[in-house]
Amino acid sequence: MSTTTRERVIIFDTTLRDGEQSPGISLDTGEKLEIAEQLARLGVDYIEAGFPIASQGDFEAVHAIASSVTGPVICGLSRTAHKDIDRCWEAIEPAPRRRIHTFIATSPTHMEHKLRMSPEQVLAEAASAVARARGYTEDVEFSPEDASRSDFDFMCDVLQAAVDNGAGTLNIPDTVGYATPVEWAERIRSIRERVSGDYVLSTHCHNDLGLAVANSLAAVQAGARQVECTVNGIGERAGNAAMEEIVMAIRTRPDTFSDVETSIRTEELARSSRMVSRLTGYPVQFNKAVVGRNAFAHEAGIHQHGVLNERTTYEIMDPSDVGQGESKIVLGKHSGRAAFKDTLSKLGMTIQGDALNAAFTRFKELADRKVQLTDADLEALVAEEMGDRVMATYSLISLEVRSGSTTTPSADLVIRVEGEECAVSATGDGMVDASCTAIKKATGIVGRLTDYNVMSVTGGVDALADVALSFESSDGVKVSGRGLAADVVEASARAFISALNKIARVRRTGEDPNAVDRPGHLG
Ligand code: KIV
Ligand code: ZN
Repeated sequence: MSTTTRERVIIFDTTLRDGEQSPGISLDTGEKLEIAEQLARLGVDYIEAGFPIASQGDFEAVHAIASSVTGPVICGLSRTAHKDIDRCWEAIEPAPRRRIHTFIATSPTHMEHKLRMSPEQVLAEAASAVARARGYTEDVEFSPEDASRSDFDFMCDVLQAAVDNGAGTLNIPDTVGYATPVEWAERIRSIRERVSGDYVLSTHCHNDLGLAVANSLAAVQAGARQVECTVNGIGERAGNAAMEEIVMAIRTRPDTFSDVETSIRTEELARSSRMVSRLTGYPVQFNKAVVGRNAFAHEAGIHQHGVLNERTTYEIMDPSDVGQGESKIVLGKHSGRAAFKDTLSKLGMTIQGDALNAAFTRFKELADRKVQLTDADLEALVAEEMGDRVMATYSLISLEVRSGSTTTPSADLVIRVEGEECAVSATGDGMVDASCTAIKKATGIVGRLTDYNVMSVTGGVDALADVALSFESSDGVKVSGRGLAADVVEASARAFISALNKIARVRRTGEDPNAVDRPGHLG
């Protein structure tokens, strides 16, 4: 079917009403206006701006949105009491296009324990509320709260009364997130068969079993043409159906949702998500579909290799289509050589052959000990590796250190000296001193440290330590060394070994120490 013949699935956004009912969220009028403006940019069809009778603040926010936000229809929620409906109308009246959404529960448990009303009273309330609302506007929506646990026949009688009194939208809420997709689709289909008249069927699903999006999509397949949802899926308890997931499912699977489309400008989804998260204080989980920061990030080597060759190997959506920029290659312990090389080249570093192999091996060692490596970590690592590569007489194999308030600091070192493995132990004033003493023993080089500096490559407790030191041998050769590791003692040992490699080279080649002691280049 071509795009022009697709029917519109109305996106009814309730971030500012049901979403704001999330525990701990309280938005002021300014914040609600900011979100409403963004929802308009996003292209939602309806904004449910609040529940005007609930508080003066809610009333004012709905009124402010109705007075200034253009584009979407502005809707207010109302119970069936006439004073609620009158107040709702007062709040939304300034909007060029407005809707009253009225609701009453139809499940036995809600009627008995919450409303304390008989089914007959509930039916009469629904009919009268819709009629009252129609006195104000032609656009009236009715919801039988707790529809998934309502007696089907009774609920349909109430829905029929709502339509007969002028409701143009019947919204079927799974208030407690109890439904499952197949039965929900069946319920929606059966309502259409059972309730006569000209109305749009809508669905409003909660996420108590994690099925809100699945149930909403099943409803669309069964004929619903309005979906009530929120940005990031915020809402009562476990939340509502997440708008970004519904919209992208419909867009990404035109084969499955062949006869429908939405009006959403999907490139605004990520920005909307960030704004709602910032203003509500509700974080977006890293792996959240569509808008999570990892939704287009690849860490495993096989995946990275695939995505670098052809993005669609591991991505079913284009990140730029949802405002997430480009696919991200995240370097971590599962990453492969292709991603490592690609990241370095994006940082302007082209290394090949042995240097690349050595840098990649070091990267894997570090990545095993640190969750993620930053660009700064990589730059430091490659610079160190390039420095070492030219003159590696000595290389560190392993280092074990011990210290405590009552023990003498000591180090057990295994080092390769001109191809031979050599194990030495030493004690010192601290663990760094013990390690350097062990290195001196193994190499036979004597002299003194003239400068020693530790920096952290990035911030945070998991930052890499970058040690830079200067050393003067007993025969007067002055060199510097640099070492990088997740741990300060190991970084110090690496820096010391890199300095001693330069001494060894001067002794071997008779080279000018100043020529040897140049900073590692990235050639
Ligand atoms: O979950 C629900 O039942 C509601 C209604 C007011 C539609 O939010
Ligand atoms: Zn709800």
